[in-house]
Amino acid sequence: MSLIAMSGIIRNVWKCSTVRIAICRYSSTARTETFAGYGEMKMKKAEVRDYIDASDPETESVIAEDVSIFENFLSEKEELSLLSEVEPRLKMMKYEFDHWDSVIYGYRETDKKDWNKANTEIINRVRELAFPPDVPQLTYVHLLDLSRSGYINPHIDSVRFCGNVIAGLNTLSPCVMRFVHYEQKDKFADILIERRSLYVMKGKARYDFTHEILPQKLSTFKGRNVHRERRIAIICRNEPIEGVEEKTPS
Ligand code: OGA
Ligand code: MN
Repeated sequence: MSLIAMSGIIRNVWKCSTVRIAICRYSSTARTETFAGYGEMKMKKAEVRDYIDASDPETESVIAEDVSIFENFLSEKEELSLLSEVEPRLKMMKYEFDHWDSVIYGYRETDKKDWNKANTEIINRVRELAFPPDVPQLTYVHLLDLSRSGYINPHIDSVRFCGNVIAGLNTLSPCVMRFVHYEQKDKFADILIERRSLYVMKGKARYDFTHEILPQKLSTFKGRNVHRERRIAIICRNEPIEGVEEKTPS
């Protein structure tokens, strides 16, 4: 079954009390890491200090461990190439604005299995970097088009429909992704995802924290305004893993 045939169930829907955070963040020292990667490619991860703004050192280290950002993963030409293939599909659909209390607001989404040659190479590069070679991946890539006023509320992707790694290409606009611990709401971290970057989320960030994409009004990072425009995420996931328990936020 395709991912979007199951639309709505990929994300667990619940009413999270919206945590709008006004707690002092501490400032960390710079740390540069290289990402092991699973393919031949070795890419330099962005410096932790540059893309994470966390509530406390422990949360920073959990999120730094389990969320990687690869800045400029796509060249401008590659971004254009992907967009020219996904736009015609997305443009056939209408943005959904009705359900203001649902997980996503102001969006349209679909999924895609077959890509042209140039784009297949890009998608394979994502897959090789983000997933170990023996891990079965969903063949469908998820395309999520958030309008300028769109946003994604806090949620954890359902363990019934996807595995332990989520890898997303962020096109057209920068955004802020917020992680909040599913039980301890005072543990949180904002991640700045620049245009044309790839993020890879796994482990505790994927299972123990909700994630959300902030609306334009709230898109600030370390006090700076982040100019959120329409954004299209191109997301690869692996197949669900048996025996993983669903977490329900308190
Ligand atoms: C989702 C999601 C993140 C993104 O579709 O479940 O969290 O990058 N998307 O748009
Ligand atoms: Mn999600």
